[in-house]
Amino acid sequence: MSAHHEEPTSFAFDAESEAKIATIIRRYPEGKQASAVIPLLYVVQKQMGRQAGSAWVPRVAMDVVADRLGMPPIRVYEVATFYFMFNTRPIGRFHLQVCGTTPCWLRGSDEVLRACKDAGHLKGYGDTSADGMFTLTEVECMGACVNAPMIAVDDDYYEDLDYESTVALIGSLKRGERPTPGSVIGRQTSAPEGGPQVLTGAESE
Ligand code: FES
Repeated sequence: MSAHHEEPTSFAFDAESEAKIATIIRRYPEGKQASAVIPLLYVVQKQMGRQAGSAWVPRVAMDVVADRLGMPPIRVYEVATFYFMFNTRPIGRFHLQVCGTTPCWLRGSDEVLRACKDAGHLKGYGDTSADGMFTLTEVECMGACVNAPMIAVDDDYYEDLDYESTVALIGSLKRGERPTPGSVIGRQTSAPEGGPQVLTGAESE
């Protein structure tokens, strides 16, 4: 990822974002609107993804959030730069977030990483492909260890991956397809391979 990037000079919420913001702000009592800062930063990031094909949060948009919530801009900057899920610089169209924490690592996350590099033409973590399609990030446990190893593509989890299925997933994304999230081997939620072995309904018969 390049160390330098162009910051836009203006940002305004579009109609889709405004509708979401109206719902979000209603959740908080009068005078406590600053509590909406994280969801509003998400709204910014999603809108940038829709409009610019890169889901990130420019500085000028943080200022718009601060203004909307009546809080000092520095407090929005603090939140946006603290949480790793906010991208404070442009990223690729798809954000490949590989979990490298112990359960995923033991189940083959190194192979998932290798597949991302090969199929996405990525040099390693922090890299964005030359065609602007993919950015590769290492993340800590995403809470899907039952079906390790996994990656998150933007907000969608793909689980039970190996080298081949990760390559296939990236190929689908390149073709403009968005495979159904979840286990790529068809596992039912987090049941054992082959299907549930208990509480199948047979016990009550
Ligand atoms: S260790 Fe990867 S999701 Fe928990």
